[in-house]
Amino acid sequence: MVAAPFEYRGNELYCEGVSLARIAAEVGTPVYVYSKAELERAYRAFDAALDGIPHRVCYAVKANSSLGVLSVLAKLGAGADIVSAGELFRWQKAGGDPAKVVFSGVGKTPGEMRAALAAGIAWFNVESVEELHVLDAVARGEGLRARCALRVNPDVDPETHPYISTGLKTNKFGISMAEARALATTAKTMTGVELVGVDFHIGSQLTKTSPFTDAIARLVELVQDLQRDGVKLHHVDIGGGLGIDYGKADTAAPPSPAEYGVAVRAALAPLAALGVELVTEPGRVIVGQAGALVTRVLYRKRNEAKHFTIIDGAMNDLMRPALYNSYHPIKPVVDPHRPTITTDVVGPVCETGDFIARDRELPELAADELVWIGAAGAYGATMSSNYNTRPRAPEVLVDGDRYTVIRARETLEHLIAGERLA
Ligand code: LLP
Repeated sequence: MVAAPFEYRGNELYCEGVSLARIAAEVGTPVYVYSKAELERAYRAFDAALDGIPHRVCYAVKANSSLGVLSVLAKLGAGADIVSAGELFRWQKAGGDPAKVVFSGVGKTPGEMRAALAAGIAWFNVESVEELHVLDAVARGEGLRARCALRVNPDVDPETHPYISTGLKTNKFGISMAEARALATTAKTMTGVELVGVDFHIGSQLTKTSPFTDAIARLVELVQDLQRDGVKLHHVDIGGGLGIDYGKADTAAPPSPAEYGVAVRAALAPLAALGVELVTEPGRVIVGQAGALVTRVLYRKRNEAKHFTIIDGAMNDLMRPALYNSYHPIKPVVDPHRPTITTDVVGPVCETGDFIARDRELPELAADELVWIGAAGAYGATMSSNYNTRPRAPEVLVDGDRYTVIRARETLEHLIAGERLA
């Protein structure tokens, strides 16, 4: 059994061998803290779950794009799933191999396509007929042929939060199954593109394997149809989306990577003879449990209706609760065993939506004490903002009993750089 990334030692919460109280004292709060060992464990576990199938893991950079995090994954041999030229820039700055990059997203600009072609990425996941034509023209303009996959929309309900469901026909993502077959034939006639795969990504924080296997079944049919049309593919890409356990009491834990691997393997069996590679784009399952946001209590108050615990971390630091009403585990950094109360954990931002937890039963927190907000490694720092002119939190990567500040706290001067008086 591998040690959990955040565990109490005696009375105090540690990340690996470093006490969170020490990091908070030295770096300040709010601060994101990541466990390097957990990043490595999660990546290896996901990769190992697909053992026996020729596959590649393209980590979804949007989940956490800090250079210090990307570099850990790049060193393990990960590829990257990017959705902007900015993410490509980060991946390369972190030492990531551009040849292992797949470029997803519904709105790639011609400039981004040129940057990706110049970097020599693996291929583009094309999401519309118009995009395919633009990619063809851009590549021809550069005297190149762009490898591409068609992202289809399998119209499968991922049974997740509507804002992070992407594989329904009411969502903006992908090409309809009906259109994809014809478009593949069109692509064959284009000299600026080479069709190498088909792809889907149906949503995020999936907590069952059935949406994946239903979507794979539809993809298998498409690949077989294309085979009959004389279109031979190099790979199928089943996106990311595997959920993590946020520790909410009344919610079933999502399948493990191993269970996911078993389901995926079975669903892909009909393609085994065709020799197509499997590509995956996991984000959350790689970085989610590796990270926490460590904050400090500022004030408490009680009115006729409620008790509030006001902390120094806010929706600008961790937007997920405000945006998706999502649940993150919360613990005191020191002394977890004491009487509980029901409280709303809220930040200093001037919005009622600025909450980290509502009506949460927690050990009664005192002013000035440290609070751990867990499972925040994915879509935490990357979705943070400067709203209310709050500098973004620093990020710390722990490795055994040492840590590195992989991103310094922003200063007020950073925030106004680039601004000027009219
Ligand atoms: N591939 C594509 C094309 C994607 O759009 C995404 C995520 C992924 C892979 C990775 O999905 P994952 O394995 O992380 O579920 N901000 C939301 C999640 C948005 C996901 C967007 N796309 C959240 O905080 O829950």
